[in-house]
Amino acid sequence: MGALRPALFSLDPETAHAAAVRAAGLAAPVLARTPGFRVSDPRLRETVWAVDFPNPVGLAAGYDKWGAAIAGWHALGFGFVEVGTVTPGPQEGNPAPRLFRLPDDDALINRMGFNNDGAPATANRLAAAARGGWLRRVPLGVNIGKHKTTTAELAVRDYTAALDRLWPYASYVVMNVSSPNTPGLRELQGASALAGLLDAVIEMNRDKAVMTGQRPRPVLVKIAPDLTSEQVDAIVDLVRDVGGDGIIACNTTVARAGLRSPASLTGQEGGLSGRPLAGPSMDVLRRVVARAPELPVISVGGIFSADDAWERLAAGARLVQVWTALVYEGPRVAARINRGLLERMEREGVAHVSEIRPRDVRDAAPPGA
Ligand SMILES: Cc1cc2nc3c(=O)[nH]c(=O)nc-3n(C[C@H](O)[C@H](O)[C@H](O)COP(=O)(O)O)c2cc1C
Repeated sequence: MGALRPALFSLDPETAHAAAVRAAGLAAPVLARTPGFRVSDPRLRETVWAVDFPNPVGLAAGYDKWGAAIAGWHALGFGFVEVGTVTPGPQEGNPAPRLFRLPDDDALINRMGFNNDGAPATANRLAAAARGGWLRRVPLGVNIGKHKTTTAELAVRDYTAALDRLWPYASYVVMNVSSPNTPGLRELQGASALAGLLDAVIEMNRDKAVMTGQRPRPVLVKIAPDLTSEQVDAIVDLVRDVGGDGIIACNTTVARAGLRSPASLTGQEGGLSGRPLAGPSMDVLRRVVARAPELPVISVGGIFSADDAWERLAAGARLVQVWTALVYEGPRVAARINRGLLERMEREGVAHVSEIRPRDVRDAAPPGA
């Protein structure tokens, strides 16, 4: 990324991140005219849940929690953007420092704790993006969660309150039950808690669709990499049984195996992302696809290159997302992955990105899904 990386790496990680989001927003009109960022090619277009994605490489949740720079992410070549995690009201998150770079591992550790300015403010910003026509150009995922102080029993109220405000702007909705930085959140992955939550969100989704005459939004569940195989199976079965539409695998990990960075960094509390998450993320993806080949999965965790993305698609993922690679590979990462996918498709005689998926997984999906 040329001169950009040393400049950004000289700042503390959270300041650099805020600067990158601000720059993406401000520079969007210039970026949109700069050749080399956006890759527009019909071979990369994917339709999942009847939503048209211009390419399969999305910006993962937590990078633009606020929906502050949608036009910028589109200009940088992302095929979709997931905003959030958004809570019903504003929340400061954990005290700083709460984001750490581990360059020796191409990784980050964060314990942000859902810092965001709440559903009403986010909804206003997304309404402006919609008025600007951006939400027609780039599908928007809306990732929702609960406040730090909300108990598990009352969590459903937070998820539905956030959904209530943000539903109109969502191409798909994500229930985040897997951040390690909100007390009790990951316990919501347990079957009975998740069943109640999913039911409530799906019911509100159906009501909104009826009231507005629009299509219900696809509802996805984002899961942790630290689940046992049996837990993954139970979640997948539940999502399928109660009428959920997909899985995002996966969030950051609390594991710290095999890192090269010094203990002062690896010992930081929080979720680890980036290169070391690639293996665990792949394992969860494989497990989900084996259990429910018809259920669309967005794969995220340690994707840095076109070959990484290819590997996920070949294992059955419908779409992929990146977060940490944007820090280490720079703003051209989405374009580079998309261009690399096209080059490899040409080399291997693959006519369309959907054909990277194995045939049995493709055949399992209902028509038009
Ligand atoms: C600083 C930071 C903040 C994040 N915030 C969220 C969040 O609010 N909600 C969420 O679902 N995931 C969040 N994530 C997780 C990412 O969306 C992604 O699942 C994870 O980082 C793995 O992808 P990566 O290896 O490409 O970074 C965050 C990740 C980082 C590094």
